[in-house]
Amino acid sequence: MKSVLVCGAGGFIGGHLVRRLKQEGYWVRGVDLKMHEFAETEADDFVVGDLRDQSLVREVVDRKFDEIYQLAADMGGAGYIFTGENDADVMHNSATINLNVLDAAYKRNCKRIFYSSSACMYPAYNQEDPENPNCREDSAYPAAPDSEYGWEKLFSERLYLSYNRNHGMEARVARYHNIFGPQGTWDGGKEKAPAALCRKIAKAKSGDAIEIWGDGQQTRSFLYVDECLEGTIRLTRSDFEGPVNVGSEEMVTINQLAMMIADVAGKKIELNHIPGPLGVRGRNSENSLISEKLGWSPSQPLKTGLEKTYEWIERQVHSNARAVA
Ligand code: NAD
Ligand code: GDD
Repeated sequence: MKSVLVCGAGGFIGGHLVRRLKQEGYWVRGVDLKMHEFAETEADDFVVGDLRDQSLVREVVDRKFDEIYQLAADMGGAGYIFTGENDADVMHNSATINLNVLDAAYKRNCKRIFYSSSACMYPAYNQEDPENPNCREDSAYPAAPDSEYGWEKLFSERLYLSYNRNHGMEARVARYHNIFGPQGTWDGGKEKAPAALCRKIAKAKSGDAIEIWGDGQQTRSFLYVDECLEGTIRLTRSDFEGPVNVGSEEMVTINQLAMMIADVAGKKIELNHIPGPLGVRGRNSENSLISEKLGWSPSQPLKTGLEKTYEWIERQVHSNARAVA
């Protein structure tokens, strides 16, 4: 049986990936600082441990895994990565994880390793026009990410690709664009806009106003987690090393996102714009390269993913409310 290691298996995308790999018949080891918050893990073996610890990483990478997926990172949405307060932790923690995991993989001869980079590595100067951001893969340089989180991702992309060149590794690098879905962080400060707005709308009554950071005219695209997994697995098993965008091309303003969720919820919602961490003014995936290299690109409408996500977050909000009462 083929074996796979998922780093960050207690997190949002890692948790979904473990389930998908089990459905495909793999033997799966997961590793994370914590067990998954929202679901029992389906991994055959789950190590609770810190990937910043080199000796722990060497114990976890104890065999020639057929595939390694490196998703562990110190990350969050705009409320976590754009305030500046977490910069040192984000850079130190994520870079240390990547240095440790990649080197241990190399030393155990695990050649095929996937790395989850982010659209946050793209230059801020190409994302000032909300109607027309440029996130083509070849627009990455001259580098000017707008967050330390983005700089760490760019550094680590280069780290993985240098192991390909110098050590014969077969690393595959994707640049994820805002992934959402059930069983992701939905409160506490690390949640991203889709989950935050689902939570606010689930708590609101019809006719209430919900708070939106900024004027809501900033644009983004959001990719449902199942399509993220599809792109991740296809890329990992392909001959193309990337980096390549894994994202949706359905760009919306944050105000439009809120209105779509209100529609899914069947509620009439007003928007109250307040100051908050904003990030770039516009961002959208550009999928020519993934279509050309993998013969596949995401196609699901945003609304379809929002229906599934809202339904799950609404349940969390109401079961939490019952637990508190
Ligand atoms: P997540 O925060 O849910 O999962 C990351 C997991 O890494 C967490 O469970 C966390 O506990 C674990 N982790 C952090 N530090 C660790 C350590 N020292 N040792 C062991 N485990 C550790 O995030 P996610 O949304 O599932 O994202 C997965 C990956 O994809 C991350 O690398 C993230 O930067 C990248 N990414 C995600 C998005 C997105 O929109 N979700 C967008 C771009 C890139
Ligand atoms: N999180 C959040 N919560 N964002 C809000 C809210 C709110 O209540 N209201 C408005 N926004 C706005 C933010 O100000 C930002 O302009 C936009 O919605 C998107 O915010 P996020 O979804 O939190 O993050 P992001 O798109 O700027 O960055 C995310 O995507 C990257 C990849 O594309 C982050 O998750 C990064 O970690 C990720 O790498």
